[in-house]
Amino acid sequence: MYHAPVLLSESLEALQIRPDGAYVDATFGGGGHAAPILNRLGDNGRLYAFDQDEDAQANAAKAPFSEHPGFVFIRSNFRFLKRQLRAAGARPGSVQGILADLGVSSHQLDTPERGFSYRFSADLDMRMNPDDERSAADVLNTYTQDDLQRVFGNYGEVRNARTLAQACVQQRERSPFRTTGDLVALCEKMVMGERWRYLSQVFQALRMEVNDETGALQDFLKDATEMLATGGRLVVITYHSIEDRIVKNWLKAGNFEGTPKQDFYGNIERPFLLITKKPIEPQAEEIKENPRARSAKLRVGEKKV
Ligand SMILES: C[S@@+](CC[C@H](N)C(=O)[O-])C[C@H]1O[C@@H](n2cnc3c(N)ncnc32)[C@H](O)[C@@H]1O
Repeated sequence: MYHAPVLLSESLEALQIRPDGAYVDATFGGGGHAAPILNRLGDNGRLYAFDQDEDAQANAAKAPFSEHPGFVFIRSNFRFLKRQLRAAGARPGSVQGILADLGVSSHQLDTPERGFSYRFSADLDMRMNPDDERSAADVLNTYTQDDLQRVFGNYGEVRNARTLAQACVQQRERSPFRTTGDLVALCEKMVMGERWRYLSQVFQALRMEVNDETGALQDFLKDATEMLATGGRLVVITYHSIEDRIVKNWLKAGNFEGTPKQDFYGNIERPFLLITKKPIEPQAEEIKENPRARSAKLRVGEKKV
């Protein structure tokens, strides 16, 4: 299976799908969310599905629902949402619902040659879009020690980020990083706590940097807000505390600091009505069936005028 959709019924409910509405699935992956959205759309409804990965595009092309007259697949980073939607004929303020289910798909993690997983031996790649220039090996071989420390510390919450960054710099002077095995071998000497957790944190941190995941998310949230119609829903599933904070602040305040602005008269300006005061998390049953759902948090906002 390409990917088991996470928080599926909760996302569909949050989107409040109208058969003739226009919707966006910003992270198509295996189409696990897209398929039931399309099922609810009539011939006049539209689903614009984004993914930057060519495997997701190939997967979309062979899906039975690709025949739906309202299905439009856009192979692009979702950070260019507005530009791409306009090119596809959608006006700002015309979209009823936008879903993003962030991060990587199981297909990406489980395909050894993509280099996302410490479980397989492969080139250290980790690009979601294989046409991007910078791979994980490039990051490890060219970043300064301070930048590597920032990546491991901020994105991976790696406790000994400084020591690890220093070890990376020393290691690459002897021999540049090329494979997942090179990184795993170095990490084995640095592990703090459980091995699998440590390796997951290091690999996740690199992946987030390679794909500029927080930068893309911020661009996406700005564009998504412009594209939504009044009353339209923004539904975002995150798997990392940094991403969750970005989404939370944006929905609360319309900026990334989380402090709403005041207008000339002192009225607080909030672009969204918060539908979820606290994030929705998967039930124990879903986590049991799909352990990759365990860190998911879903937040929903409804665009005000
Ligand atoms: C968690 S999976 C989505 C799974 C999908 N909801 C499903 O149930 O099948 C995330 C997908 O989003 C894509 N993706 C992640 N960040 C992206 C970005 N900035 N732009 C476009 N696609 C992105 C990945 O390539 C991956 O296929």
